[in-house]
Order: sequence, then C-alpha cells, then structure tokens
Amino acid sequence: MRLSDTPLIDAVRIAARVRQLANEISADYAQSEIVLLTVLKGSFLFAADLLRALSIGATIDFVQARSYDGTNSTGEVHFLYLPETAIAGKHVLIVEDILDTGRTAAAILEHIAALGPASVRLCALLDKPARRVTAVSADYVGFPIGDEFVVGYGLDYEERYRELPAVYTLLSE
Ligand code: IMP
Ligand code: MG
Repeated sequence: MRLSDTPLIDAVRIAARVRQLANEISADYAQSEIVLLTVLKGSFLFAADLLRALSIGATIDFVQARSYDGTNSTGEVHFLYLPETAIAGKHVLIVEDILDTGRTAAAILEHIAALGPASVRLCALLDKPARRVTAVSADYVGFPIGDEFVVGYGLDYEERYRELPAVYTLLSE
C-alpha cells in the first residue's frame, strides 16, 4: 500500500470548505444551540475545525459505532460509546468523516431519533454515493468522492495516517 503522490483534497481546500459548511450551518440553525455529535474516531479533526468555525452556540459530544461489513456479516452496527448529553429537545448535528455504505450513519440516526431530539441532521466531510447500501444521505457534504479508499485529516487505514493534514488516496500495489 502507498499514498497518492499528491493529495486528493489538499489542506487549503479542506479549510475553505469547512469554513463554508460552518457558515451554512450557522445560518440554517439561526440562533439555536446545537450538539455536534462527533462520530469517533475519524471525525475528530473535522469536528474540531467545524466547531471552531461556527458562529452559533455549540456543544460537542461523541459516539462510536462499529459496522461489520463484508462476507460474513449482515452489516450490523453496534455502539462502543454513546453520548452523555441528554438528547431530548436538542438540535443534533451528527458529524461523520465519510459516508460509505451509510450503515453507521443510519444506525446512529435511528438511535438519536429515538431519544426525542428537537431535530437531527447529518454532516459528512466526504461522501461516496456509489457505495451506498442504505437510503441515508447527508444534509451537509464537504466533498463527494469516487469509490476509492482515502486517508488523512482524521481518516485511517488500520489506525495509520490520521495525522496527515490533507486527504490522500490509498493505492494498492
Ligand atoms: P459506512 O458505515 O459503510 O458508511 O462506513 C462508515 C465508516 O467506515 C466511516 O466512518 C469510516 O470510519 C470508514 N470508512 C469508509 N470508507 C473509508 C475510507 O475511504 N477511508 C477511511 N475510512 C473509511
Ligand atoms: Mg475508520
């Protein structure tokens, strides 16, 4: 495995897009407070940047879920960490690093919706629409990408590459 020589999305484009998303989100929620529900681990850098760029009140919390994909599973999702925030009556914005099959986001949306939030929306830095197996779609998308495996800016391959400031394609050789 090796990384693409140049980033798929460089740090300057990421920063500019995060700022745009933050402006859009701040305008859409008007003066409401929101809970940024950060999906661990891949979204931690995106959520940190988004949080600091918002001009509305926001708190941050976390959720971690694992989806078993592939040959020997049905794509079942289980939770490793649940938010401590009392969700009832809150405006919740789920922050995902990447929407792939959509199973993780669908399970989180279902879980949160059952807790009686005032509203729940989904924001994904990256979106691979070609890979979707559920009906879920994001309300805010940073960058749609093709069917390729990417790392950097929080996203990993076997826990590596999260520290890279830009998003790279992982190439198999
Ligand atoms: P989904 O449930 O299939 O949508 O997958 C969600 C999770 O799979 C994401 O939150 C990522 O952690 C991981 N994932 C999917 N595609 C990629 C990728 O291209 N690079 C790194 N992680 C990925
Ligand atoms: Mg991951």
